[in-house]
Amino acid sequence: MDFKDNINQDKIPRHIAVIMDGNGRWAKQRGQQRIFGHENGVQAVRETVEAAGELGVKNLTFYAFSTENWCRPKSEVDTLMSLLVKAIKNETPELLEKGVRLNAIGDIESLPKECIKELNEAIHITRNNTRLNVYVALSYSSQWEIVNAVKNIAQQVKHNELDPEEIDKSVFQKFLQTNGTPDPDLLIRTSGELRLSNFLLWQIAYSELYFTPVLWPDFRKKHFYQAILDYQRRERRFGKT
Ligand code: IPE
Ligand code: IPE
Ligand code: MG
Repeated sequence: MDFKDNINQDKIPRHIAVIMDGNGRWAKQRGQQRIFGHENGVQAVRETVEAAGELGVKNLTFYAFSTENWCRPKSEVDTLMSLLVKAIKNETPELLEKGVRLNAIGDIESLPKECIKELNEAIHITRNNTRLNVYVALSYSSQWEIVNAVKNIAQQVKHNELDPEEIDKSVFQKFLQTNGTPDPDLLIRTSGELRLSNFLLWQIAYSELYFTPVLWPDFRKKHFYQAILDYQRRERRFGKT
C-alpha cells in the first residue's frame, strides 16, 4: 500500500515549510564537490512541488539560501546563484503548466542582478496561477525579517501613520514577509540536523516539526507523504486542553 493512499484528504496542511538540507554531505558521500549536491537537489524540489500540488497543499515554502549562507566560500555562493538562475529558467514552464504561482521572501535586493531578473520574470509569468503557491526563501533569515519589520513599523509610527497602541500580533504580522499566507502547519527539515537555522521563527510558533535523516537530494514524494502522515497522527492543542 502506497503512503499516499493513507493520507487523510480532510487534514491536508495548508502550508508546509521545508528546510532543504544535506546537499553538501550527499555530494561528499559520492566523492564530489558540494555543488554536485546542490544540482541534484533540484529534482527533490520538483518532486515536492508536484506531490504538494497533487495533494492539494496550498502553500509551500522552501528555504533555499539563508542570510548566513552568504558567509560560505565565494565560489560556492556564486555557483549556487547561477544554479538558481538556471533552475528558475528551466522550471518556469513546468510551474505554469502545473498551476503553480511562484513568489520569493527574503532580502531579494541583495541577490545578483541576473537572479533578481529571472525571479521577477517567473513571478510575473506565474502570477495568475492559483493551484499552489510556492515561496522560495532567498537571502532570508527570521531575525533579518523581524528587524526589518520593526524598522518599517518605527517609520510608520514616526510619520504618524501608526499608533503604537494599535500594535498587536495581527498588525505585526502584516510587516512580515509572509503577510497574507497562513502560518506553516508543518515544517520539514532534511539531513538529520535538529535545528531551525533562523527560519520562520515567528511563523512556526505552533507548527508541527518533522525531522528526517534523508539528505535533500534523496528526498522524494514518498518522504513527503511520510511527513504528512506523521503530521496527521499528531494532536495539535494550541495551548488548550
Ligand atoms: C542545503 O545543503 C543547501 C543550502 C544551505 C544552500 P547544504 O549546502 O547546507 O549541505 P550540508 O548541510 O553541508 O550537507
Ligand atoms: C539552512 O541550512 C539554510 C538552508 C537550508 C537554506 P544550513 O546548512 O545553512 O544550516 P546550518 O548551518 O546547518 O544550521
Ligand atoms: Mg547544511
